[in-house]
Amino acid sequence: MRVIKEEVLALKESSLYAERVKNNVFPVIGEGSHSAKIMFIGEAPGRNEAKTGRPFVGAAGKLLDEMLVSVGIDRKEVYITNIVKDRPPFNRDPLPEEITAYGPFLDRQIDIIQPEVIATLGRFSMDYIMRKFGLDDVLASISKMHGRAFEAKSSYGTVAIIPLYHPAVAIYNRDSKNILMEDFKILTQYK
Ligand code: URA
Repeated sequence: MRVIKEEVLALKESSLYAERVKNNVFPVIGEGSHSAKIMFIGEAPGRNEAKTGRPFVGAAGKLLDEMLVSVGIDRKEVYITNIVKDRPPFNRDPLPEEITAYGPFLDRQIDIIQPEVIATLGRFSMDYIMRKFGLDDVLASISKMHGRAFEAKSSYGTVAIIPLYHPAVAIYNRDSKNILMEDFKILTQYK
């Protein structure tokens, strides 16, 4: 992980590198247990994350923390990261070329952690992970996929991929929050 961090810090080819330098902020590599059973993968850092270098510490992070508490999972026992490691300006959606640039770092993080469960947060990480594990044929919209476990083969064994809505959708929407909370319950099978 230290090597990955050094390489991301030096990733000058990324268009987001210039943003990072201009704004004097940090890339977000990830945090949590390196032997976690469950790995959460979000989209990209927001303002608070880029300021602190930590994933999910802003409003979406508070929601994520609340969800974890609701199912009795300790944040320190999981690993939390994003596909894109630098903040896109104005929190816009990550561009395909940004996902291509940062994806290999995420791939290496998965190989290091070897999680039993990959919980994707939002459609970008769902798409990336389902394709990475050869599940293109079952890939559908997140409204059809959320809250279900899809079994896949990885280099280290079987992995359950669980697409979840991004916590940001639940910040101002009570119905979405209830769906997210209901979906999180599936994770208790893998604690
Ligand atoms: N949204 C994300 O997708 N990731 C973060 O780390 C914070 C907000």
